[in-house]
Parts: sequence; C-alpha cells; structure tokens
Amino acid sequence: MSDSNRLIIFDTTLRDGEQAAGAAMTVEEKLEIAQQLEKLGVDVIEAGFPYASQGDLRAVTLIAEKVRGTCIAALARANPKDIDAAWEALKGAEEPRIHTFIGTSEIHRLHQLRKDREEVMELACAMVRRAKGYCSNVEFSPMDATRTEPEYLFQLLKAVIDQGATTINIPDTVGYAMPHTFAALIKAIMENVPNIHKAVVSVHCHNDLGLSTANSLEAVSAGVRQVECTINGLGERAGNASLEEVVMGVHTRKDLFGLTTNINTREIYRTSRLVSDITGFVVQPNKAVVGANAFRHASGIHQDAVLKERTTFEIMDPVAIGWPGSALVLGKLSGHAGLRKRLQDLGYNLESEEMNKAFVAFKELADKKREVTDKDLEALMADQRRTTGTTETYRLDHVQVSCGDHDVPTATVRLLTPEGQAITDAATGAGPVDAVYKAINRIVQVPNTLTEFSVRPVTEGIDAIGEVTIRIDSRGKSFVGRGASTDIIVAGAKAYMNALNRLLSIQGRP
Ligand code: KIV
Ligand code: ZN
Repeated sequence: MSDSNRLIIFDTTLRDGEQAAGAAMTVEEKLEIAQQLEKLGVDVIEAGFPYASQGDLRAVTLIAEKVRGTCIAALARANPKDIDAAWEALKGAEEPRIHTFIGTSEIHRLHQLRKDREEVMELACAMVRRAKGYCSNVEFSPMDATRTEPEYLFQLLKAVIDQGATTINIPDTVGYAMPHTFAALIKAIMENVPNIHKAVVSVHCHNDLGLSTANSLEAVSAGVRQVECTINGLGERAGNASLEEVVMGVHTRKDLFGLTTNINTREIYRTSRLVSDITGFVVQPNKAVVGANAFRHASGIHQDAVLKERTTFEIMDPVAIGWPGSALVLGKLSGHAGLRKRLQDLGYNLESEEMNKAFVAFKELADKKREVTDKDLEALMADQRRTTGTTETYRLDHVQVSCGDHDVPTATVRLLTPEGQAITDAATGAGPVDAVYKAINRIVQVPNTLTEFSVRPVTEGIDAIGEVTIRIDSRGKSFVGRGASTDIIVAGAKAYMNALNRLLSIQGRP
C-alpha cells in the first residue's frame, strides 16, 4: 500500500454510509455489498462500528471472515470497550485495521467530551497503543479536524504516530472546509508534523456544502494518498465524498494527478445500483458518473456531435464504468442461453438454480411485455435478490385485489411463514394499496407507519415495469422496501413485504 503513485480507496459505505437516516442494512445485505466492493477493487472496506450494535458486530465479523484480499476496517471510539469490540469482530480478517477516533476541535472537546486538550491527547495515544496491541494496522482520526486549532492538531498527530498509528485520517466532519483551505491544512500538516512520513495521510470529507469531492481531490493534489468515500455519496446528513466521483476524477484527469487506483471502474455502475437497491436511496438522475442522465444527450447539436465523435461531449467512456449501453432487446422467443449471455454482460454470473429462477421470471415478463431491455433485467434481478436473501421471514405468495370507482377496495393476500405454512387474510381499505397493506398487517402484526410511497417506471411505455419504493417507520427507525412488477399493486405489496422483512431482520420482532 505504500506506492506513492497509488491512491488508496477506503470505502465506508457500510459504516458512514449506513449512518444516513433510513439506510439501515441487514447483515446479509452488508455482506453482499462487501463482496461487490471487493470486486470493485477497493483497498479498504470499513465494515462497521462493532461496539454500536449487535448487528454491526455480526456484520463486521462475517465480512472479516468471508472477504479476502481486501483490508477490513472497524471503527472504534477512543475508549477501551470500543477497541476491544472492534478487535473481537476483526480477528478473523486477513488484513484487519482498527480505526479509532476522537473529537479534537474546541467545540467537540468542550461540549461533547468535556475534556481539555491534554486529556484528549492522552486518550488518543492510549487508545492507539491499545489498538496496536491487537494489530499492526491502526488508523487514527481527529474528528472535526478542520475546526481544530492547527498547532494542537500537529502535536496530536505527531503523538499518535509515535504510538504507532499507520494511517492518519483528516476528517472534514461537518463539511466546513473550502477546497483551498483544506489543501492548505493538508500542506501544513505535511510541513509541521515531523514524523508524518511514517504514516499514510488520508481524508474523509462530508458534503454539507456540496464540496466533498472537490475537497477530497484538492487534498489528493496536496499529497494525501488515501481517500475515504462511499458509493453514491451515501452518509451522515448530506453524505460523504462519492467513490465514483473521486475515482473517475483521478482517472479522467490523470494528466493532473498522475495517480492510479486499484479500482476496476467497470464495476462502478453495478455497485452503485446494488447500493441504491439495498438502501432504497434512489440515485438522482443528474448525479455525476452514475445518474441516469450522466451519458444522455438531449440537445440535437450534442447528439449529432457525439454520433460523429463521442469525445466531443463525453469526457468519460460509459463503457469504462460498466454502463449497460446495449440496445440489445430480448423477447419471448429468447432462450436460456441468450438470457444467460445478456445477464453475464450485465455482470450477473448466476448459479444454475438462480439462473433457472431468473429464466422463469423473464418468461413471465416477456409474456406481458413485448421487449425486455437491460433496465427490465436489472429490475428483475433486483427483485430476485430481494426474495432469495436469507432476510426473508414472510414470503408473498399471492395477492388479489378488487377495486373500482364504485367498489370498496378489497384485498386478499396469502403469505408463507418461515415454516412454509400458508396464511391467508383479507381486508378493505381506502384504496387498493391500503387494502393490501392492511391484509398483510393482519398476518404479520408488526406496528409501523408508512412514511413514503413512490412509483417509478423502469423503462418507457405503458407496459413498463413499475418499481415501488416505500419507507416504514417503527420504534424510531426507518426501513426501506422495494418491489418491481408490471402491476404496481403487486409491486407495492412486494415493497411492503421487503420493508417488513428487513425490519424483522434488523430489529427482530417488536
Ligand atoms: O466524519 C467523521 O469525522 C467520521 C470519523 C469517525 C472518521 O466519520
Ligand atoms: Zn464521517
């Protein structure tokens, strides 16, 4: 990891990303994302904060055991219990890293910690030493570094490096820095911390003012060699620097940065989809690199120019980020081999049982829809992933609705319990979705409030698959659910089951 021309990519989607309000993930979902991050080629996966919850402890333990070839980090506040829990979770990892942090700015020292400078410094050093007792790879973060007195920050960094910290991470915790002030701080650290050459210098930028990518890239220009980021910029409040923007910035402007990364950029689009699908955070259409419009040219002048020469209006090749640009369309006459090939091109390498299930779902869709596009296949695969995961407690087996402008909307649903028992119930409601949700509630009986319901067509056309995203709140936590079908009532029912199953898996039965 010490090649000075290589930028280390530290992904914190599973830790800071999950701190985004409403982005809670199950242990299985976290493992799935970690495995995709490994394919993407990130150097470090911050898998969670083991002391924070049993779920985090289990997720970090599982990822540490199953994901090989990538450094696995766990977060710990600067206190003994956190450090011990981090190690407990990490000990099965091939390359473990304990990441410990403490607030260092006056605001944090005074109001959050109620400690003076010396006490914070002593605690930081003691906890780096404790972490070093467990593993050689230790990262230290002075939280709120950009609002910390620079002279104090320099002394503290020197002290923790003397205790053996191998990575020094400079967080812009509240997204306060401007690109030029952040670069100046990094340069000052390089010049004023005498032992800084003994550690990798990293940054962790939040996006409160929309500057997280700009700040990260300025810091790279100023000499840092690790950037902490998340897929789709997910994270606390306005989020973190987005991995795809930082990586594509460095790749596209190699002339400026002269750096490489380990990232297999062709996995970027797929990783973005997976994270969006699991968390329910829809990627805005105009999002850089991975938004639906990122490579769409609406103006006639642009279209004409791009057809003549792509680089006239495209600074990145969509193929390089794994964009599914194919115009290839499947239909009801397409066979198993054709579907398998198309799915492989889209990055889905399925085992035979999964492939058989995918083929059945594809045939059902092709019967309803003349043309099955890549976007349809993505929606189909996402739906399949949601219903084959071990997170599924109840399975939606049947849903039937009667409604109309003179009818009382009535729904009948049949769910399968984990033991395979079928339970049928029915309810009326204000509308068909309300009736379906009430019928499901009669069986599952988990109190919750629906806070969001949205439908998005996956492709154009009246026969398009509709993707429903919902959020439900229960005991102060928010859970997302998604479902896809050409019938939006069925999609809504699937989304509700998905949200309920995730609630049951993350929170257990209330
Ligand atoms: O934003 C922050 O300061 C953090 C630290 C724990 C690195 O997330
Ligand atoms: Zn953060």
